[in-house]
Amino acid sequence: MNKDNVSTQSLKLENILDLAEELNSLKDIDAILDRILLESRLITGAVAGSIFLVENERLKFRYTHNDELYGKEGNNKYIYSSFEIPLNRNSVVGYVADTGKPLLIDDVYSLPENLPFHHNSSFDEKTGFHTKSMLTVPLKTLQGNIVGVMQIINATDATGKVISFPPESESLISFFARNATMAIERGIMTREMILRMMLMAELRDPKETGAHVQRVGAYSAEIYHRWALNKGINIQTIRRQKDVIRLASMLHDVGKIGISDSILKKPAKLDDNEYNIMKFHTIFGARLFHNASSELDILSREIALNHHEKWNGTGYPGKFKEESDESVTLGEGKKGEEIPISARITALADVFDALGSVRSYKEKWPDSKVLELIKSESGKHFDPEVVDAFFQILEVIIAIRDKYQ
Ligand code: C2E
Ligand code: SIN
Ligand code: SIN
Ligand code: FE
Ligand code: FE
Repeated sequence: MNKDNVSTQSLKLENILDLAEELNSLKDIDAILDRILLESRLITGAVAGSIFLVENERLKFRYTHNDELYGKEGNNKYIYSSFEIPLNRNSVVGYVADTGKPLLIDDVYSLPENLPFHHNSSFDEKTGFHTKSMLTVPLKTLQGNIVGVMQIINATDATGKVISFPPESESLISFFARNATMAIERGIMTREMILRMMLMAELRDPKETGAHVQRVGAYSAEIYHRWALNKGINIQTIRRQKDVIRLASMLHDVGKIGISDSILKKPAKLDDNEYNIMKFHTIFGARLFHNASSELDILSREIALNHHEKWNGTGYPGKFKEESDESVTLGEGKKGEEIPISARITALADVFDALGSVRSYKEKWPDSKVLELIKSESGKHFDPEVVDAFFQILEVIIAIRDKYQ
Protein backbone atom coordinates (compact mmCIF):
# COMPACT_ATOMS: atom_id res chain seq x y z
CA MET A 1 0.00 0.00 0.00
CA ASN A 2 1.51 3.40 -0.88
CA LYS A 3 1.58 6.43 1.41
CA ASP A 4 -1.51 8.00 -0.13
CA ASN A 5 -3.57 4.95 0.46
CA VAL A 6 -2.48 4.75 4.07
CA SER A 7 -3.58 8.30 4.79
CA THR A 8 -6.96 7.97 3.07
CA GLN A 9 -7.43 4.76 4.99
CA SER A 10 -6.75 6.40 8.37
CA LEU A 11 -9.01 9.30 7.41
CA LYS A 12 -11.75 6.84 6.67
CA LEU A 13 -11.15 5.07 9.96
CA GLU A 14 -11.51 8.34 11.78
CA ASN A 15 -14.80 9.01 9.99
CA ILE A 16 -16.00 5.58 10.93
CA LEU A 17 -15.31 6.22 14.60
CA ASP A 18 -17.23 9.51 14.45
CA LEU A 19 -20.04 7.71 12.73
CA ALA A 20 -20.24 5.06 15.40
CA GLU A 21 -20.95 7.85 17.85
CA GLU A 22 -23.63 9.38 15.65
CA LEU A 23 -25.26 6.02 15.18
CA ASN A 24 -25.77 5.90 18.92
CA SER A 25 -27.99 8.96 18.78
CA LEU A 26 -30.53 7.11 16.62
CA LYS A 27 -33.24 5.12 18.35
CA ASP A 28 -35.38 3.21 15.91
CA ILE A 29 -34.12 0.06 14.21
CA ASP A 30 -35.17 1.22 10.72
CA ALA A 31 -33.35 4.54 11.09
CA ILE A 32 -30.26 2.71 12.34
CA LEU A 33 -30.29 0.26 9.42
CA ASP A 34 -30.83 3.12 6.99
CA ARG A 35 -27.82 4.98 8.33
CA ILE A 36 -25.55 1.92 8.41
CA LEU A 37 -26.35 1.12 4.81
CA LEU A 38 -25.99 4.72 3.68
CA GLU A 39 -22.57 5.16 5.26
CA SER A 40 -21.26 1.78 4.09
CA ARG A 41 -22.28 2.72 0.57
CA LEU A 42 -20.68 6.16 0.84
CA ILE A 43 -17.36 4.64 1.92
CA THR A 44 -17.30 2.45 -1.21
CA GLY A 45 -19.43 4.32 -3.73
CA ALA A 46 -21.81 1.35 -3.82
CA VAL A 47 -25.06 1.92 -5.71
CA ALA A 48 -27.20 -0.53 -3.74
CA GLY A 49 -27.28 -2.68 -0.66
CA SER A 50 -29.42 -4.69 1.72
CA ILE A 51 -29.40 -5.80 5.32
CA PHE A 52 -30.70 -9.19 6.47
CA LEU A 53 -31.31 -10.00 10.13
CA VAL A 54 -31.35 -13.46 11.68
CA GLU A 55 -34.74 -14.45 13.06
CA ASN A 56 -35.79 -18.01 13.92
CA GLU A 57 -32.78 -19.51 12.15
CA ARG A 58 -33.62 -17.72 8.94
CA LEU A 59 -32.31 -14.59 7.27
CA LYS A 60 -35.02 -11.97 7.05
CA PHE A 61 -34.68 -9.26 4.46
CA ARG A 62 -34.93 -6.17 6.59
CA TYR A 63 -33.68 -3.03 4.82
CA THR A 64 -32.59 -2.00 1.34
CA HIS A 65 -31.34 0.82 -0.86
CA ASN A 66 -30.97 0.93 -4.62
CA ASP A 67 -30.27 4.41 -5.96
CA GLU A 68 -30.63 3.25 -9.55
CA LEU A 69 -34.05 1.64 -9.06
CA TYR A 70 -35.64 3.44 -6.11
CA GLY A 71 -33.89 6.83 -6.06
CA LYS A 72 -31.88 8.38 -3.25
CA GLU A 73 -34.42 10.31 -1.22
CA GLY A 74 -37.95 9.04 -1.74
CA ASN A 75 -40.00 6.48 0.18
CA ASN A 76 -39.02 2.90 -0.41
CA LYS A 77 -41.74 0.28 -0.26
CA TYR A 78 -39.18 -2.53 -0.55
CA ILE A 79 -38.06 -2.06 3.04
CA TYR A 80 -41.46 -3.49 4.01
CA SER A 81 -41.29 -6.64 1.90
CA SER A 82 -41.36 -9.83 3.93
CA PHE A 83 -38.97 -12.11 2.22
CA GLU A 84 -36.57 -14.49 3.88
CA ILE A 85 -34.04 -17.13 3.00
CA PRO A 86 -32.74 -20.19 4.81
CA LEU A 87 -29.58 -19.79 6.82
CA ASN A 88 -27.41 -22.17 4.83
CA ARG A 89 -24.46 -22.03 2.47
CA ASN A 90 -26.47 -22.14 -0.78
CA SER A 91 -26.79 -18.38 -1.05
CA VAL A 92 -24.18 -15.64 -0.74
CA VAL A 93 -25.78 -14.04 2.33
CA GLY A 94 -26.43 -17.46 3.88
CA TYR A 95 -22.82 -18.45 3.31
CA VAL A 96 -21.54 -15.31 5.01
CA ALA A 97 -23.94 -15.72 7.94
CA ASP A 98 -22.95 -19.36 8.35
CA THR A 99 -19.17 -18.92 8.06
CA GLY A 100 -19.09 -15.55 9.85
CA LYS A 101 -16.53 -14.33 7.30
CA PRO A 102 -16.79 -11.44 4.82
CA LEU A 103 -16.90 -12.25 1.14
CA LEU A 104 -15.74 -10.06 -1.72
CA ILE A 105 -16.95 -10.92 -5.21
CA ASP A 106 -15.78 -9.03 -8.32
CA ASP A 107 -18.45 -10.33 -10.65
CA VAL A 108 -21.36 -12.44 -9.43
CA TYR A 109 -21.97 -13.73 -12.96
CA SER A 110 -18.53 -15.31 -13.29
CA LEU A 111 -18.29 -17.27 -10.07
CA PRO A 112 -16.42 -20.61 -10.31
CA GLU A 113 -18.78 -23.59 -10.59
CA ASN A 114 -17.39 -25.46 -7.58
CA LEU A 115 -18.49 -22.94 -4.90
CA PRO A 116 -21.20 -24.00 -2.43
CA PHE A 117 -23.23 -20.81 -3.01
CA HIS A 118 -24.83 -19.35 -6.09
CA HIS A 119 -25.95 -15.90 -7.05
CA ASN A 120 -29.71 -15.69 -7.30
CA SER A 121 -30.34 -13.73 -10.48
CA SER A 122 -34.13 -13.51 -10.15
CA PHE A 123 -33.99 -9.96 -8.72
CA ASP A 124 -31.90 -8.74 -11.66
CA GLU A 125 -34.21 -10.45 -14.14
CA LYS A 126 -37.29 -8.94 -12.53
CA THR A 127 -35.95 -5.38 -12.25
CA GLY A 128 -33.43 -4.97 -15.07
CA PHE A 129 -30.75 -4.08 -12.55
CA HIS A 130 -27.33 -5.58 -13.23
CA THR A 131 -25.54 -6.83 -10.12
CA LYS A 132 -21.79 -7.12 -10.59
CA SER A 133 -19.44 -6.49 -7.67
CA MET A 134 -20.55 -7.39 -4.19
CA LEU A 135 -19.22 -7.11 -0.68
CA THR A 136 -21.05 -9.14 1.97
CA VAL A 137 -20.11 -8.88 5.65
CA PRO A 138 -21.50 -10.57 8.75
CA LEU A 139 -23.05 -8.42 11.47
CA LYS A 140 -21.43 -9.93 14.50
CA THR A 141 -21.70 -9.01 18.18
CA LEU A 142 -18.62 -8.72 20.40
CA GLN A 143 -19.52 -12.17 21.74
CA GLY A 144 -19.33 -13.52 18.20
CA ASN A 145 -23.05 -14.05 17.61
CA ILE A 146 -24.23 -13.38 14.08
CA VAL A 147 -27.26 -11.06 14.14
CA GLY A 148 -27.37 -10.57 10.39
CA VAL A 149 -25.58 -9.81 7.16
CA MET A 150 -25.01 -6.63 5.20
CA GLN A 151 -24.51 -6.79 1.49
CA ILE A 152 -23.40 -3.83 -0.61
CA ILE A 153 -23.52 -3.96 -4.37
CA ASN A 154 -21.77 -2.36 -7.34
CA ALA A 155 -18.96 -0.15 -6.13
CA THR A 156 -18.38 2.79 -8.48
CA ASP A 157 -15.45 5.03 -9.40
CA ALA A 158 -15.57 8.82 -9.57
CA THR A 159 -17.23 8.68 -13.00
CA GLY A 160 -19.98 6.33 -11.83
CA LYS A 161 -18.57 3.28 -13.61
CA VAL A 162 -19.11 0.00 -11.77
CA ILE A 163 -15.83 -1.39 -10.42
CA SER A 164 -14.66 -4.10 -8.04
CA PHE A 165 -14.60 -3.29 -4.35
CA PRO A 166 -10.99 -2.38 -3.45
CA PRO A 167 -9.43 -5.03 -1.19
CA GLU A 168 -9.12 -2.63 1.77
CA SER A 169 -12.88 -1.98 1.77
CA GLU A 170 -13.38 -5.47 3.15
CA SER A 171 -11.64 -4.64 6.45
CA LEU A 172 -13.04 -1.09 6.60
CA ILE A 173 -16.63 -2.21 6.18
CA SER A 174 -16.12 -5.16 8.53
CA PHE A 175 -14.76 -2.77 11.14
CA PHE A 176 -17.72 -0.44 10.67
CA ALA A 177 -20.10 -3.41 10.83
CA ARG A 178 -18.77 -4.39 14.25
CA ASN A 179 -19.71 -0.96 15.61
CA ALA A 180 -22.97 -0.99 13.74
CA THR A 181 -24.04 -4.31 15.25
CA MET A 182 -24.26 -2.76 18.70
CA ALA A 183 -26.53 -0.04 17.37
CA ILE A 184 -28.70 -2.66 15.66
CA GLU A 185 -29.12 -4.65 18.85
CA ARG A 186 -30.06 -1.49 20.71
CA GLY A 187 -32.58 -0.51 18.03
CA ILE A 188 -34.25 -3.91 18.15
CA MET A 189 -34.43 -3.64 21.94
CA THR A 190 -36.02 -0.19 21.85
CA ARG A 191 -38.76 -1.37 19.56
CA GLU A 192 -39.32 -4.52 21.56
CA MET A 193 -39.57 -2.43 24.71
CA ILE A 194 -42.28 -0.25 23.20
CA LEU A 195 -44.17 -3.30 21.99
CA ARG A 196 -43.88 -4.87 25.43
CA MET A 197 -45.15 -1.67 27.03
CA MET A 198 -48.22 -1.65 24.82
CA LEU A 199 -48.73 -5.36 25.48
CA MET A 200 -48.59 -4.90 29.24
CA ALA A 201 -51.14 -2.14 28.94
CA GLU A 202 -53.49 -4.90 27.71
CA LEU A 203 -55.24 -2.43 25.50
CA ARG A 204 -56.61 -5.02 23.19
CA ASP A 205 -56.08 -8.56 22.03
CA PRO A 206 -52.30 -8.96 22.56
CA LYS A 207 -51.98 -10.73 19.23
CA GLU A 208 -53.37 -7.68 17.47
CA THR A 209 -51.77 -4.88 19.49
CA GLY A 210 -48.19 -5.46 18.31
CA ALA A 211 -49.03 -5.42 14.63
CA HIS A 212 -51.41 -2.47 15.01
CA VAL A 213 -48.83 -0.38 16.80
CA GLN A 214 -46.09 -1.22 14.27
CA ARG A 215 -48.43 -0.32 11.42
CA VAL A 216 -49.44 3.07 12.82
CA GLY A 217 -45.78 3.86 13.55
CA ALA A 218 -44.66 2.90 10.06
CA TYR A 219 -47.54 4.70 8.31
CA SER A 220 -46.73 7.85 10.27
CA ALA A 221 -43.00 7.66 9.55
CA GLU A 222 -43.57 7.21 5.81
CA ILE A 223 -46.28 9.87 5.53
CA TYR A 224 -43.97 12.26 7.37
CA HIS A 225 -41.14 11.40 4.94
CA ARG A 226 -43.29 12.22 1.89
CA TRP A 227 -44.89 15.31 3.46
CA ALA A 228 -41.46 16.68 4.43
CA LEU A 229 -40.03 16.11 0.92
CA ASN A 230 -43.03 18.00 -0.47
CA LYS A 231 -42.23 20.85 1.92
CA GLY A 232 -38.60 20.98 0.73
CA ILE A 233 -37.21 19.92 4.10
CA ASN A 234 -33.67 18.58 3.70
CA ILE A 235 -33.10 14.86 3.75
CA GLN A 236 -30.84 14.87 6.84
CA THR A 237 -33.58 16.50 8.91
CA ILE A 238 -36.15 14.11 7.46
CA ARG A 239 -34.04 11.08 8.43
CA ARG A 240 -33.64 12.34 11.99
CA GLN A 241 -37.31 13.24 12.49
CA LYS A 242 -38.56 10.05 10.89
CA ASP A 243 -36.60 8.11 13.48
CA VAL A 244 -38.48 9.60 16.45
CA ILE A 245 -41.86 9.95 14.76
CA ARG A 246 -42.09 6.21 14.19
CA LEU A 247 -41.54 5.36 17.85
CA ALA A 248 -43.61 8.23 19.27
CA SER A 249 -46.51 7.39 16.98
CA MET A 250 -46.43 3.77 18.16
CA LEU A 251 -47.24 5.16 21.63
CA HIS A 252 -50.19 7.36 20.56
CA ASP A 253 -52.81 5.43 22.55
CA VAL A 254 -50.72 4.56 25.59
CA GLY A 255 -53.08 6.75 27.65
CA LYS A 256 -55.80 4.11 27.19
CA ILE A 257 -54.11 2.53 30.23
CA GLY A 258 -56.14 5.02 32.26
CA ILE A 259 -59.50 3.93 30.81
CA SER A 260 -61.47 1.18 32.57
CA ASP A 261 -61.86 -2.16 30.79
CA SER A 262 -65.65 -1.89 30.87
CA ILE A 263 -65.38 1.02 28.44
CA LEU A 264 -62.21 0.05 26.60
CA LYS A 265 -63.34 -3.47 25.83
CA LYS A 266 -67.05 -2.84 25.42
CA PRO A 267 -68.18 -4.97 22.49
CA ALA A 268 -70.72 -2.36 21.40
CA LYS A 269 -71.11 1.30 20.68
CA LEU A 270 -70.15 3.66 23.51
CA ASP A 271 -72.88 5.90 24.93
CA ASP A 272 -72.21 9.65 25.20
CA ASN A 273 -70.99 9.46 28.76
CA GLU A 274 -68.60 6.59 28.03
CA TYR A 275 -67.29 8.30 24.92
CA ASN A 276 -66.60 11.44 26.96
CA ILE A 277 -64.54 9.41 29.40
CA MET A 278 -62.75 7.73 26.51
CA LYS A 279 -61.65 11.13 25.23
CA PHE A 280 -59.43 11.50 28.28
CA HIS A 281 -57.02 8.88 26.96
CA THR A 282 -55.31 11.76 25.14
CA ILE A 283 -54.72 13.67 28.37
CA PHE A 284 -53.74 10.53 30.32
CA GLY A 285 -51.21 9.77 27.60
CA ALA A 286 -49.74 13.26 27.74
CA ARG A 287 -49.39 12.99 31.53
CA LEU A 288 -47.17 9.94 31.14
CA PHE A 289 -44.64 12.19 29.42
CA HIS A 290 -45.13 15.12 31.74
CA ASN A 291 -41.43 15.58 32.50
CA ALA A 292 -40.53 15.24 28.85
CA SER A 293 -36.82 15.77 28.38
CA SER A 294 -35.67 13.70 25.41
CA GLU A 295 -36.80 14.38 21.86
CA LEU A 296 -38.69 11.10 21.95
CA ASP A 297 -40.57 12.08 25.13
CA ILE A 298 -41.48 15.47 23.73
CA LEU A 299 -42.83 14.02 20.51
CA SER A 300 -44.63 11.16 22.29
CA ARG A 301 -46.39 13.70 24.46
CA GLU A 302 -47.32 15.88 21.50
CA ILE A 303 -48.82 12.92 19.62
CA ALA A 304 -50.60 11.33 22.59
CA LEU A 305 -52.25 14.64 23.42
CA ASN A 306 -53.20 15.82 19.93
CA HIS A 307 -53.90 12.76 17.76
CA HIS A 308 -57.70 13.24 18.01
CA GLU A 309 -57.70 16.94 17.19
CA LYS A 310 -59.21 17.71 13.80
CA TRP A 311 -57.98 20.14 11.14
CA ASN A 312 -61.30 22.04 11.20
CA GLY A 313 -61.26 22.47 14.98
CA THR A 314 -63.91 19.88 15.93
CA GLY A 315 -61.62 17.37 17.63
CA TYR A 316 -60.55 16.79 21.24
CA PRO A 317 -59.19 17.33 23.92
CA GLY A 318 -58.79 20.92 22.73
CA LYS A 319 -57.30 23.83 24.63
CA PHE A 320 -57.58 23.52 28.37
CA LYS A 321 -55.78 25.07 31.29
CA GLU A 322 -53.94 22.55 33.42
CA GLU A 323 -53.81 18.93 32.39
CA SER A 324 -52.59 17.68 35.78
CA ASP A 325 -55.65 19.28 37.41
CA GLU A 326 -58.06 16.53 38.49
CA SER A 327 -61.03 18.56 37.36
CA VAL A 328 -59.68 19.19 33.86
CA THR A 329 -62.38 19.63 31.23
CA LEU A 330 -62.13 19.46 27.48
CA GLY A 331 -61.64 22.77 25.72
CA GLU A 332 -62.24 24.36 22.34
CA GLY A 333 -60.66 22.20 19.64
CA LYS A 334 -57.27 23.10 18.22
CA LYS A 335 -57.39 24.03 14.58
CA GLY A 336 -55.09 23.76 11.52
CA GLU A 337 -51.46 24.35 12.28
CA GLU A 338 -52.19 24.79 15.99
CA ILE A 339 -52.07 21.00 15.90
CA PRO A 340 -48.46 19.75 15.68
CA ILE A 341 -47.63 18.09 12.37
CA SER A 342 -46.65 14.83 14.13
CA ALA A 343 -50.22 14.60 15.48
CA ARG A 344 -51.86 15.62 12.18
CA ILE A 345 -50.01 12.73 10.58
CA THR A 346 -50.73 10.20 13.32
CA ALA A 347 -54.43 11.13 13.20
CA LEU A 348 -54.63 9.96 9.60
CA ALA A 349 -52.49 6.87 10.21
CA ASP A 350 -54.67 5.88 13.19
CA VAL A 351 -58.01 6.30 11.45
CA PHE A 352 -56.79 4.53 8.31
CA ASP A 353 -55.72 1.61 10.47
CA ALA A 354 -58.82 1.59 12.70
CA LEU A 355 -61.22 1.55 9.75
CA GLY A 356 -59.34 -1.26 7.99
CA SER A 357 -59.31 -3.44 11.12
CA VAL A 358 -61.92 -5.37 13.08
CA ARG A 359 -62.67 -3.80 16.45
CA SER A 360 -64.76 -5.20 19.29
CA TYR A 361 -67.39 -2.67 18.25
CA LYS A 362 -67.12 -2.58 14.48
CA GLU A 363 -66.49 -4.56 11.32
CA LYS A 364 -63.56 -4.04 9.03
CA TRP A 365 -64.31 -1.63 6.20
CA PRO A 366 -63.45 -2.41 2.55
CA ASP A 367 -60.48 -0.43 1.17
CA SER A 368 -62.56 1.57 -1.27
CA LYS A 369 -64.76 2.89 1.51
CA VAL A 370 -61.78 3.70 3.74
CA LEU A 371 -60.01 5.65 1.00
CA GLU A 372 -63.22 7.45 0.11
CA LEU A 373 -63.67 8.58 3.71
CA ILE A 374 -60.08 9.84 3.91
CA LYS A 375 -60.53 11.83 0.71
CA SER A 376 -63.82 13.32 1.84
CA GLU A 377 -62.35 14.28 5.24
CA SER A 378 -59.48 16.21 3.66
CA GLY A 379 -59.73 19.75 5.02
CA LYS A 380 -62.24 18.59 7.67
CA HIS A 381 -60.79 15.89 9.93
CA PHE A 382 -57.42 15.83 8.17
CA ASP A 383 -54.77 18.27 6.99
CA PRO A 384 -55.08 18.32 3.16
CA GLU A 385 -51.28 18.23 2.72
CA VAL A 386 -51.11 15.12 4.87
CA VAL A 387 -53.87 13.49 2.83
CA ASP A 388 -51.95 14.33 -0.37
CA ALA A 389 -48.76 12.79 1.00
CA PHE A 390 -50.72 9.68 2.05
CA PHE A 391 -52.11 9.12 -1.44
CA GLN A 392 -48.70 9.76 -3.03
CA ILE A 393 -47.26 6.82 -1.11
CA LEU A 394 -50.28 4.52 -1.10
CA GLU A 395 -48.11 1.66 -2.43
CA VAL A 396 -45.82 1.98 0.59
CA ILE A 397 -48.83 2.12 2.92
CA ILE A 398 -50.19 -1.13 1.46
CA ALA A 399 -46.74 -2.79 1.73
CA ILE A 400 -46.69 -1.87 5.44
CA ARG A 401 -50.15 -3.31 6.00
CA ASP A 402 -49.12 -6.55 4.30
CA LYS A 403 -45.97 -6.81 6.39
CA TYR A 404 -47.54 -6.32 9.83
CA GLN A 405 -50.69 -8.42 9.68
P1 C2E B 1 -59.56 3.45 17.73
O1 C2E B 1 -60.39 2.22 17.63
O2 C2E B 1 -58.06 3.28 17.59
O3 C2E B 1 -60.10 4.46 16.66
C1 C2E B 1 -59.37 5.61 16.31
C2 C2E B 1 -60.19 6.58 15.49
O4 C2E B 1 -60.56 5.98 14.24
C3 C2E B 1 -61.52 6.98 16.11
O5 C2E B 1 -61.36 8.03 17.06
C4 C2E B 1 -62.27 7.48 14.88
O6 C2E B 1 -61.83 8.75 14.49
C5 C2E B 1 -61.83 6.48 13.82
N1 C2E B 1 -62.82 5.39 13.75
C6 C2E B 1 -62.75 4.16 14.30
N2 C2E B 1 -63.83 3.42 13.98
C7 C2E B 1 -64.63 4.21 13.20
C8 C2E B 1 -65.88 4.01 12.53
O7 C2E B 1 -66.49 2.93 12.61
N3 C2E B 1 -66.35 5.06 11.79
C9 C2E B 1 -65.69 6.24 11.68
N4 C2E B 1 -66.19 7.23 10.94
N5 C2E B 1 -64.48 6.47 12.31
C10 C2E B 1 -63.97 5.46 13.05
P2 C2E B 1 -62.48 8.23 18.18
O8 C2E B 1 -63.86 8.14 17.59
O9 C2E B 1 -62.16 9.50 18.89
O10 C2E B 1 -62.31 7.02 19.17
C11 C2E B 1 -61.17 6.90 20.00
C12 C2E B 1 -61.11 5.54 20.60
O11 C2E B 1 -62.31 5.34 21.39
C13 C2E B 1 -61.12 4.40 19.57
O12 C2E B 1 -59.81 4.15 19.14
C14 C2E B 1 -61.71 3.27 20.42
O13 C2E B 1 -60.73 2.69 21.28
C15 C2E B 1 -62.72 3.98 21.30
N6 C2E B 1 -64.08 3.93 20.73
C16 C2E B 1 -64.66 4.85 19.92
N7 C2E B 1 -65.94 4.49 19.64
C17 C2E B 1 -66.16 3.32 20.26
C18 C2E B 1 -67.30 2.44 20.38
O14 C2E B 1 -68.38 2.68 19.83
N8 C2E B 1 -67.15 1.31 21.16
C19 C2E B 1 -65.96 1.02 21.78
N9 C2E B 1 -65.88 -0.12 22.50
N10 C2E B 1 -64.87 1.83 21.70
C20 C2E B 1 -64.97 2.97 20.96
C1 SIN C 1 -36.54 -6.39 14.20
O1 SIN C 1 -36.67 -7.61 14.21
O2 SIN C 1 -35.86 -5.85 13.34
C2 SIN C 1 -37.22 -5.53 15.21
C3 SIN C 1 -38.69 -5.67 15.23
C4 SIN C 1 -39.34 -5.58 13.87
O3 SIN C 1 -39.25 -4.56 13.22
O4 SIN C 1 -39.98 -6.55 13.44
C1 SIN D 1 -54.47 -0.62 21.17
O1 SIN D 1 -55.42 0.10 21.52
O2 SIN D 1 -54.55 -1.83 21.08
C2 SIN D 1 -53.15 -0.04 20.81
C3 SIN D 1 -53.12 1.34 20.35
C4 SIN D 1 -54.13 1.81 19.30
O3 SIN D 1 -55.34 1.53 19.34
O4 SIN D 1 -53.72 2.55 18.42
FE1 FE E 1 -56.54 7.45 20.36
FE1 FE F 1 -55.51 4.30 17.90
